[in-house]
Amino acid sequence: MTTNDKKNKQDPILEQVIRLDDQYYAPVYGRRLPVCIASGKGVWLEDTSGHRYLDMIGGIAVNVLGHAHPRLTEAIARQAAAVIHCSNYFYNVPQAQLAARLARLSGLADARVFLANSGAEANEAAIKLARGYFYHQGQSREKIVSALHSFHGRTLATASATGQSKYSAPFAPLPPGFVHVPYNDLTALEAAVDTSTCAVLLEVIQGESGVMPADPAYLQLAEKLCRQTGARLIIDEIQTGMGRTGRFLAYEHVQIKPDIITMAKGLAGGVPIGAMIANQETATGFHTGDHGTTFGGNPLACSAALAVLDEFESADLVANAARTGEKLQKMLRRLAEHQPLIKEVRGRGLMIGVELASPLAVAVKLDLLAAGYLVGSVGDCIIRLLPPLILDQKELPPFCEAFERTLKEAAAK
Ligand SMILES: Cc1ncc(COP(=O)(O)O)c(C=O)c1O
Repeated sequence: MTTNDKKNKQDPILEQVIRLDDQYYAPVYGRRLPVCIASGKGVWLEDTSGHRYLDMIGGIAVNVLGHAHPRLTEAIARQAAAVIHCSNYFYNVPQAQLAARLARLSGLADARVFLANSGAEANEAAIKLARGYFYHQGQSREKIVSALHSFHGRTLATASATGQSKYSAPFAPLPPGFVHVPYNDLTALEAAVDTSTCAVLLEVIQGESGVMPADPAYLQLAEKLCRQTGARLIIDEIQTGMGRTGRFLAYEHVQIKPDIITMAKGLAGGVPIGAMIANQETATGFHTGDHGTTFGGNPLACSAALAVLDEFESADLVANAARTGEKLQKMLRRLAEHQPLIKEVRGRGLMIGVELASPLAVAVKLDLLAAGYLVGSVGDCIIRLLPPLILDQKELPPFCEAFERTLKEAAAK
């Protein structure tokens, strides 16, 4: 047991929270980390026992500005003091401003924006929009083609689009029309997309299945097939977007033009939000009354997102994600040269997966936690890093040293 474990074990707040969580919270998370987060500042988090951690997982790609960023907290406080929420019966200034900003940043032609509260809701809206696009032309096209091992959310439609049956099997009957093809298999994609296809839904890098990048030729083929058949191309940028990969949107790396983009996660720096952005042609799939939400696009979430986007511009955070991400990947690859436990380092920018040669990812994650570093794990073999985009390069050497020590200890056990 490490010093940290002992400290956490003696933390009365943590003990009480675990008791309440065990008794009252739906047991969906299987929480195993003995940490109750209390506060944060920059790239650091502090738990209820006063222990500090370097946050290398950023709330799973959410806390792009780190924690307690003054620009974001001021914007939230200012908006909360004015008006937190008003219904979508009325206009509100931050919503209109954010829609204009996202339409421009999306790179899509004369884009239209719909604001929701989560990634799943943004994808749900995208699926409905694609179906509505054909419906309003008097056609019925229901087939949505997505990739095996993808992740698109946990509503019934998005869990059906997700190419991992563990997320949908218990909840049958599932909505029909979802077809899955092996990721990066050009032949299978070509066979699956035809004139009955409503949309192709893909991630540029599959995050939840262990940071698996798409082959650019695969995404380019998806675009070509969509153009040939009229199907809509939906790119899920929920995890890859907001500058994480070193471009504002990851599709920009591969010279394609989607019809619909979905975003969420880091868009409002931690305030719940989702966005679906469609080009003008595809946006005709929603008529008045076809879709809506109570909270989506409320002034609080939109003000937070505007503050995040302002900070992205003034601090050039997309460039920092590219630079710091490249440096970190280089350091991890150098580490892999003399640490056989590292099988592969993958990813782009600050979206990084380190695949281990043995099923030690959870043990390594726990050891790093005890050493004061928060990382994620996928399955038994992959360590996942999604730190805040404000991460400074000075944090990298101590992190890599701790990672090296942890791997050495894990390999020796
Ligand atoms: C690529 C992708 N799409 C969709 C989602 C679902 O987003 P949310 O959890 O906000 O519903 C996620 C969440 O991890 C994701 O990574």
